[in-house]
Amino acid sequence: MVSDRIRRMSPSQTLELNAKVAELRAEGKSIIALNSGEPDFNTPPPVIEAAHRAMLEGKTKYTPTPGILPLREAIARKLSKDNHIEYNPNEIIVSIGAKFVLAAAFQVLCNPGDEVIIPTPCWVSYVEMVKLAEGVPVLVPVADDNRLDVDELERAITPKTRIILINSPNNPTGAVYTEESLRRVAELAVEHDCFIITDEVYEKLIYGTTPHVSIAAFSPEVWERTLTVNALSKAYAMTGWRIGYAAGPRDIIKGISAIQSHTTSNSTSFVQWASITALDECDEYVEFMRKAFEERRNYMFERVSAIPGFKCPFPEGAFYLFPDVSGTFGKRTGDRVITDAPALANYLLDEAGVALVPGNAFEAPNAIRLTYSNSMENLTVAMDRIEAAINKLV
Ligand SMILES: Cc1ncc(COP(=O)(O)O)c(C=O)c1O
Repeated sequence: MVSDRIRRMSPSQTLELNAKVAELRAEGKSIIALNSGEPDFNTPPPVIEAAHRAMLEGKTKYTPTPGILPLREAIARKLSKDNHIEYNPNEIIVSIGAKFVLAAAFQVLCNPGDEVIIPTPCWVSYVEMVKLAEGVPVLVPVADDNRLDVDELERAITPKTRIILINSPNNPTGAVYTEESLRRVAELAVEHDCFIITDEVYEKLIYGTTPHVSIAAFSPEVWERTLTVNALSKAYAMTGWRIGYAAGPRDIIKGISAIQSHTTSNSTSFVQWASITALDECDEYVEFMRKAFEERRNYMFERVSAIPGFKCPFPEGAFYLFPDVSGTFGKRTGDRVITDAPALANYLLDEAGVALVPGNAFEAPNAIRLTYSNSMENLTVAMDRIEAAINKLV
């Protein structure tokens, strides 16, 4: 009964795994979830208070489709201060998370058959979003030491290339791309007349020496061919609030707004009001979380790197480790053979009670993704269990 479009679509593997973890826990199993893509912290109290206030004040009605003006002004201030990019509020749209605005952006920018270059490993949803927009995802593996191999990207460009997608800090690798490499991407886009979508949702979670750089800030020429996407989800521990935004040329924002007007109407009214408080008043909460993530990153990188058969590029941002685990392939314990990353993830779920996502979900079949968005106590237990389970393999 379902359409061809839906038959071609695979559901989000990360969300499916969440359901499996919930099931195992309901059966009474002790599962440490290192699979989810969200901060374990609660939303900063001032944001919760602001939402409550907004509800009591009756800010519970439809809002303008692109979002309330004071929030778009706050986002414009943020983009100017943090990212050195100037946008007018009418060049900004607020949506139901970065996810919706990205999905809508592909609809707005892709004609059938247009190619979208996606450096891999990549976040689970890009490929399906591009397919849904009748675009053609062109997957380009970038260097496995977390560099962005711009030469590879250049080789993938054809006359049909419409968009180059960049995600830094990266989910799943934690890579933060250097300004030099991003400038080269921008040059390629100008030279080949392509558009850039830059997904910057992990921008605030950086622990290394490579600073976050926004591509749209490079020059007016680059600005006019770039859509900057961000969200409050990861930086402010607001994943469930569903608030994201995009900033870019007016015609693209108008296109996204047209889709939004016929689908979701607007993001939740009182969440929009509370988001102003997050952007304007919550820097110290963000810094507190960033520091905690940095401590966990350091601990987890050391532990994961010490596991036989795991080879982990050093992550400078986000909250993920993405080791190549192909060194465990072919090993066994009893009848159980680790044939590939999904087999290893299943083994670690059954044997160690630790949930991880196999790299196949991120177009990188030799790896697994571990999220360190969990307490140090849980991370310690999880790593002890993983180590013991791997040591059983021969
Ligand atoms: C790279 C990347 N982009 C976008 C999103 C979606 O963010 P949101 O929860 O704001 O829709 C995620 C969430 O996992 C992500 O990892």
